Amino acid sequence: MGLILADDLLGRGLAQIQREVDSAFDAILPVPEDSRARLVEAMRYAVIGGGKRVRPLLVVTVAEMYGASRSAAIRAACALEAIHVYSLIHDDLPCMDDDDLRHGKPTVHKAFDEATAVLAGDSLHALAFELLADERVSCDPFIRAELVRALATASGHKGMAGGQMMDLAAESEDFDLHTVTRLQQLKTGALLMAAVEMGAILGKLPDEGRGHLRNYARDIGLAFQIADDLLDHEGDEELAGKALRKDEGQGKATFVSLMGAKAARAQAHALSEQAIGHLAQHGKEADLLRALARFVVERDR
Ligand code: IPE
Ligand code: IPE
Ligand code: MG
Ligand code: MG
Ligand code: MG
Repeated sequence: MGLILADDLLGRGLAQIQREVDSAFDAILPVPEDSRARLVEAMRYAVIGGGKRVRPLLVVTVAEMYGASRSAAIRAACALEAIHVYSLIHDDLPCMDDDDLRHGKPTVHKAFDEATAVLAGDSLHALAFELLADERVSCDPFIRAELVRALATASGHKGMAGGQMMDLAAESEDFDLHTVTRLQQLKTGALLMAAVEMGAILGKLPDEGRGHLRNYARDIGLAFQIADDLLDHEGDEELAGKALRKDEGQGKATFVSLMGAKAARAQAHALSEQAIGHLAQHGKEADLLRALARFVVERDR
């Protein structure tokens, strides 16, 4: 997708995972020869190409750090990315953010229609759990159940969807920094946390060994959303591939509206450094995670 990255390791890592995720979804979603074709075309339109694949990279990197197979991790990563993409399709709908552009092309309800967009989101949501229940993710049913639980919890009212509900309220209610932080931890942080958690589950890392990874994920999750708010405030629409400068017009409480852009940027960089600090016990195998922590705050899309 033409990302220019100072960090070659991360540039190569993202390019590779983008290819792997695209080809996995291509194989997972053949177009049926009946009137469901339109639905599957819409799912493919949304899920193949375009995304940065930050969440898949997290799943696979953590899984491989703890010795899990890459092909299994790719399938689990596709499950998480299916949830993420469904959340974007629904987020763009007229009843939510009412956006016409995503990944530099018309949003799903614009390219198809609203009903198809709703059903494409629903179907990607279901696909995520179908993928995780499959033996190709792990032959161990306990691992599969743990993956399902981690992703389900992060997706619903205790995670992403709950955060989206709070985000709607942020347009009309007076949210303070504490409440906005909670909102963002759910809306954006929960799926990024799930990425690291799922990698750890695949790598059979015991719960008590995951604390530093959770701290890392919490910090990059918050930094990631502050960067999204900064992009909305001062980014380039062409590069971002989506409409920007919407939050202020909607009177939405964000890190930028509450702290100002300068302090928000400083906070994002501090969180990124703090995230890298949580990886001190690791050597080179965590370099990609370190590079990703820097990338999430410096990104232009
Ligand atoms: C955008 O997420 C929505 C947020 C949670 C802020 P990404 O910036 O990861 O979206 P893509 O998949 O790379 O487009
Ligand atoms: C969307 O947040 C987050 C989810 C879809 C869960 P935003 O509404 O800020 O994301 P963009 O700016 O449309 O990508
Ligand atoms: Mg939104
Ligand atoms: Mg949006
Ligand atoms: Mg945004």
